[in-house]
Amino acid sequence: MFQRLSLCSLFCATFFAQAQPSLKTIAVPQPTNTNQYIRNRQALTILGKALFWDMQLGSDGRTACATCHFHAGADHRSQNQLANPNFAFPANATLTSFDFPFHALSDPTSNNSRVLRDNSSIYGSAGSFRRRFTAINPASGSDDGFDLSDITAFSLDGLNLRQVTTRNAPSVINAVFNARNFWDGRARNTFNGANPFGLSDTRLNALAYRNNTLSDELVNATNASLASQSVGPPANNVEMAYDGLAWPALAQRMLALRPLATQRVAADDSVLAGLPTDLTYLSLVQQAFAPEYWQAPQGRDGFTQAQLNFALFFGLALQQYQSTLVSDDSPFDRFASGDPTAMTQQQIAGLNLFRGRAQCDTCHTGPEFTQASIGALLNNGPGQRGRGPNAGLDTGFFRTGVSLREADLGLGGVDDFGKTLAQNPNAPNVIGAFKTPGLRNVEFTGPYFHNGGQASLEQVVEFYNRGGDFPAGGLGPNIRRLNLNANDQAALVAFMKALSDDRVRFQRAPFDHPELCVSNGHSALAQTSDPRFTLSATDNWVGIPATGKDGASVPLQTFSELLDGIGTDGTRAHSLSQACAIIPAN
Ligand code: HEC
Ligand code: HEC
Repeated sequence: MFQRLSLCSLFCATFFAQAQPSLKTIAVPQPTNTNQYIRNRQALTILGKALFWDMQLGSDGRTACATCHFHAGADHRSQNQLANPNFAFPANATLTSFDFPFHALSDPTSNNSRVLRDNSSIYGSAGSFRRRFTAINPASGSDDGFDLSDITAFSLDGLNLRQVTTRNAPSVINAVFNARNFWDGRARNTFNGANPFGLSDTRLNALAYRNNTLSDELVNATNASLASQSVGPPANNVEMAYDGLAWPALAQRMLALRPLATQRVAADDSVLAGLPTDLTYLSLVQQAFAPEYWQAPQGRDGFTQAQLNFALFFGLALQQYQSTLVSDDSPFDRFASGDPTAMTQQQIAGLNLFRGRAQCDTCHTGPEFTQASIGALLNNGPGQRGRGPNAGLDTGFFRTGVSLREADLGLGGVDDFGKTLAQNPNAPNVIGAFKTPGLRNVEFTGPYFHNGGQASLEQVVEFYNRGGDFPAGGLGPNIRRLNLNANDQAALVAFMKALSDDRVRFQRAPFDHPELCVSNGHSALAQTSDPRFTLSATDNWVGIPATGKDGASVPLQTFSELLDGIGTDGTRAHSLSQACAIIPAN
């Protein structure tokens, strides 16, 4: 028996090293047509990391990109995280493990069995209060505005709560490998310098200054989906902004600010250590970008050239920083590079199932564990992994029966310019299809799926074992009853945990970061003390302490552990039980 197992592990190592190699074998994708803008990549990384973690980016001066992506690149908060409150749960609800899965069946092995509960809830991420923008407030580093009544949705006892996004936040780690981002792919592969929608927007979105003349230029950077994605949230009135804030005003406020002025940075942060105290975002922009894009003595419409190009700068900086968030050193990667001892026998059995009987690798292909990757796009010849039912940029989008086909159109939707998100909208199963997520560090990124309806990997495997929850309307390949026994299911879960990188688990470089305060629901339903916002409920702020390059001493908490209260004794990081060191403005 012992002999057989060790032979298998050697055999599997060689065999799978070819089929699903280490992520180290994949070059980190680089955008095209961006060299003319960038003059210093190190300054660009600093700019990107500062902007990602800076709470000053949100209109309220308290909301960062990281607010919804602080935990292994995702979000695991449990209070006020439902997109449709006052439906199955009251507003401001705190979720417990009894609330998952959202679709519960009397026999978890059969999607035909009696439905015990189907509340159609959606777990999203809490962002901004519903407020109207009036003006930037340079002195406070935030925006002025006033509360808009939100009585139908994010409201309790007559007070507004923070609004919640309509989908679960995916991890930003390894997102650089995705050909397109967002669950529905609407963050296009091509960055246009202004919004997520790529070539749907044909305008000239950059302003260049050459030979004493300002001229409008086309931005056309491919493999830059993270740049496309990043210019969405800052002006979005659910995620970060007060309604009506536009990019030039945001730029005016941000460029004058000191990066991370209200947050602590570890003295040994791998990127941000030792920044001069007189630094502003404008000075970082000037270091990172070619003068042709910010040096014009005269601007336009009351804004400077640098302010008018801020979305372009922002996109390229966020693309650059997030392209450093690559986790390629998991036990699986070591195993795939030829170390047969890197995974346990149970994990190897799980890998065999993943690639064998369960056929998970139909969609979770290659070292990225998703066919929706640039790597698959480049390997689209006969028999190669980029060949699928949907070719080209639609590769890797599938319907797996997480929700009713029409509940969320996914890839079947249109963008803000009315253009279809699917390259081939007539292909079968485009409606309700979602991007296949890469599964690295999935141990920490619960809850799962675009609706956040499963709390644990065990629940996800049960979902696949019964062939999905809502099969009507067509499913992607190999979503069917799998007949896995309890050992098989445990092995698949164990294998997925072999995709965790210890640098993510312990928040070490490049995953170290500044301090953050996140709003975790509203604890005392009393109005804020800020006289501008008398309709808003006070936030329950929790602290996410800064880490330096060597990380924290305890591992990240999983979502199940959060629901079960495990780790509040200091044995897990991000247990959302730490006070926030920053005194919030509201
Ligand atoms: C209020 C919460 C919130 C904030 C703030 C926020 N995001 Fe997200 N993010 C989300 C949600 C929700 C999604 C998924 C949306 C969808 O697919 O429709 C997402 C998706 C993404 C993705 C796509 C990952 C993938 O695999 O498709 C990236 C990258 C990302 N966000 C980065 C950022 C950056 C950069 C910022 C700041 C400029 C930011 N986010 C601000 C909630 C947030
Ligand atoms: C037909 C393609 C396909 C197959 C086969 C497939 N998946 Fe998936 N997987 C997806 C898609 C698409 C999603 C996102 C679905 C959604 O949210 O609506 C997903 C989501 C997941 C997630 C959640 C990740 C997250 O961050 O939310 C896990 C875990 C997962 N799959 C594991 C597996 C396992 C294990 C198997 C095999 C038993 C498998 N998948 C088979 C396409 C597939």
